[in-house]
Amino acid sequence: MFRTGLHYLLAGGVVPNVLSSVLQPTPPMGFNDWSAFMCGLNESVFVDTAHSMVDNGLLAAGYNRINLDDCWSSMERAANGSMQWNTEKFPHGLPWLTNYLKNLGFEPGIYTDAGNLSCGGYPGAYGHEELDAQTFASWGFTYVKLDGCNMPTGTEPEYKAVYGKWHSILSAMDPPLVFSESAPAYFAEAANLTDWYDVMTWVPKFGQLARHSRDTLVWNSTLYWPNIAVRLARFQRPGYFNDPDFLNVDHFDYTLDERKSHFAIWATLSAPLIISAWIPGLKAQEIEYLTNKEIIAVDQDPLALQATLVSQDGTFDVLTKNLANGDRLLTIINRGNQSASHSVSFSRIGIGSTPAVNVQDLWTGSQSYAKNQITASNIASHGTAIFRLSPIGKECEVIPTGVIFNTYSLTTLTTSHGQISWANSTGTDGQVWQTREDGTIRNIIDGGSCLTELKGGKVVLASCAGTTNQQWDYLYSGNVQSRSSYNCLTEEADEAVVTADCLYEDNIQVFGLPSGVAIVED
Ligand code: GLA
Repeated sequence: MFRTGLHYLLAGGVVPNVLSSVLQPTPPMGFNDWSAFMCGLNESVFVDTAHSMVDNGLLAAGYNRINLDDCWSSMERAANGSMQWNTEKFPHGLPWLTNYLKNLGFEPGIYTDAGNLSCGGYPGAYGHEELDAQTFASWGFTYVKLDGCNMPTGTEPEYKAVYGKWHSILSAMDPPLVFSESAPAYFAEAANLTDWYDVMTWVPKFGQLARHSRDTLVWNSTLYWPNIAVRLARFQRPGYFNDPDFLNVDHFDYTLDERKSHFAIWATLSAPLIISAWIPGLKAQEIEYLTNKEIIAVDQDPLALQATLVSQDGTFDVLTKNLANGDRLLTIINRGNQSASHSVSFSRIGIGSTPAVNVQDLWTGSQSYAKNQITASNIASHGTAIFRLSPIGKECEVIPTGVIFNTYSLTTLTTSHGQISWANSTGTDGQVWQTREDGTIRNIIDGGSCLTELKGGKVVLASCAGTTNQQWDYLYSGNVQSRSSYNCLTEEADEAVVTADCLYEDNIQVFGLPSGVAIVED
């Protein structure tokens, strides 16, 4: 197997023998009505969906949650202040529905909003937190999605206080309810990302998953928006998952290859797999890939790592991460408009000296053998190749390897002709870095040179000498801190790579590093 160091286990956040104490050790899987039905939800949507998921194998494959989204309630609270369901949409009532779903083998979840009104204009929970949590539990729900529309003032401290209150309530219940937090999404598109980064530092402490950015498309929309999950890999750990939103796999505007990519990318990220589609209407080919055991196993891998970028060249995005049994994942997305092949060298995905690896294609199950590099042949336009790699023969070391990029500007640490700079991603070897256990950062072209902080703050590549000005710590804040000056790696406006006084989660000092790097918690 691939061998990883102690730091690597620490990077996972929790060692496997304590996983059982975590409420949601692997990403939740299931169904939510929103993308397919929006406010048109009703009892039969959930009943029919549940029966369909039993019959088509989705439940058996692990999709065991059925979550109601917005617009399930009446427009007014009851006289005693409690929420009440819309009796036209839910004629038998929600306790009846949760019981029905549980009898089929599902865990039911419900939606509410932290503010005064939900995003759809229904009563929000602000000021009613304790009562609403007790009501949802008494109706049989075991999971709460807390949206963040219509907060009284909308400041970051206010979100933190309200989400913290829900955390206290839900985590003290017996049994505790799973807490899905939408707070980060409300800060994701600001010109200054400090508040977004700040929210991301507390959501993992409060709940089990958090929506970090804009919604995936609802059924009739084509307003595409880039997914930005790759900026947040460091926050994920067993028990907490970054949530890039639903698998809207029946969207009319997606090709089959795009749907399969959607699923494979979410699994690569160990993201929640919550399908939002009309499940009874899904075709057999849809069910076939959604129940792919090998890809689900990657999503549900106990290390819970979010894969990180190895390279981005405008056509191919390459992602990698370690898996709990010592295997390595390799995912290659073809963003191009034609089918094409792509090769990735062992050194780019951090595989040290090993003669060869066994390559399992997770779509087909076919096994092959690779030496020095892995080639994905004829990846369809907008398709994704996904491989599980196991070394053949002796153990071999894996070094966290990939791009180092500013999660605001998206520029990438680059070495070219002896100069380092922050540059756009082009996919060259000069943009692929090893983050070693000894704290050094080395480009894969020249393992003898280390990222070095000079007096005055200039940063260069120089021969590795084992000194503290060549050792860096990756902090939970996203800062990369010198062990010599304790200053932080910084992107200056002219693309210069320097260190400067550490600022608080500032746009110019927050970076994404390869998955598996040790993270120093505050
Ligand atoms: C927001 C959320 C969606 C959905 C709607 C409901 O947009 O991000 O997931 O819950 O509100 O109104």
